[in-house]
Amino acid sequence: MKKNIILIGFMGVGKGTTARAYAEKYGTFIIDTDDLIESKENRKIKTIFKEDGENYFRLCEQQCADWIENSVDNSFISCGGGFYNVSNLKKLGTVVLLDASYEWIFNRLSTAENAKAKLRKRPLFSEPKKAKRLYNERKEAYKKIADLIINIEEKNLKAVIKEIHKKAYI
Ligand code: S3P
Repeated sequence: MKKNIILIGFMGVGKGTTARAYAEKYGTFIIDTDDLIESKENRKIKTIFKEDGENYFRLCEQQCADWIENSVDNSFISCGGGFYNVSNLKKLGTVVLLDASYEWIFNRLSTAENAKAKLRKRPLFSEPKKAKRLYNERKEAYKKIADLIINIEEKNLKAVIKEIHKKAYI
């Protein structure tokens, strides 16, 4: 079994922020699946969606998962919101879900300092109604695939990374 932490959850829940805080505290290398795809494709996620569509992006996610399976261990991997659907997710490491209500996530995103940029880079968050539908469609699937579920609404970042370290890591 690989000793990666595979952090999943809906867009805007704070996976990147959590990964960075984790790395700072525990010195682990972090990998972001969206960043990997952007660097391999040499274009932004938004552009991939626009030029080649969502299905192509999902193929990129699967390629990324295959690469992680073959090449990565002992790392903290922050995943795009749809990455939970790759066929080999459970082989990549311990799957940790950051869980929060749609309202909490929407509030976090829309009150962020760079809220506009945060929403703009996420094609599937361009319409809040559609994003909410997607959230409702996915929420049970996220829970089903996770080895560990962390509800983050009442916790600060420090407590969240401590909990991940204690319960999931190595
Ligand atoms: C997506 C989430 C995004 C990104 C892409 C699709 C999704 O990542 O992978 O826009 O399907 O939920 P974040 O969860 O980091 O926003």
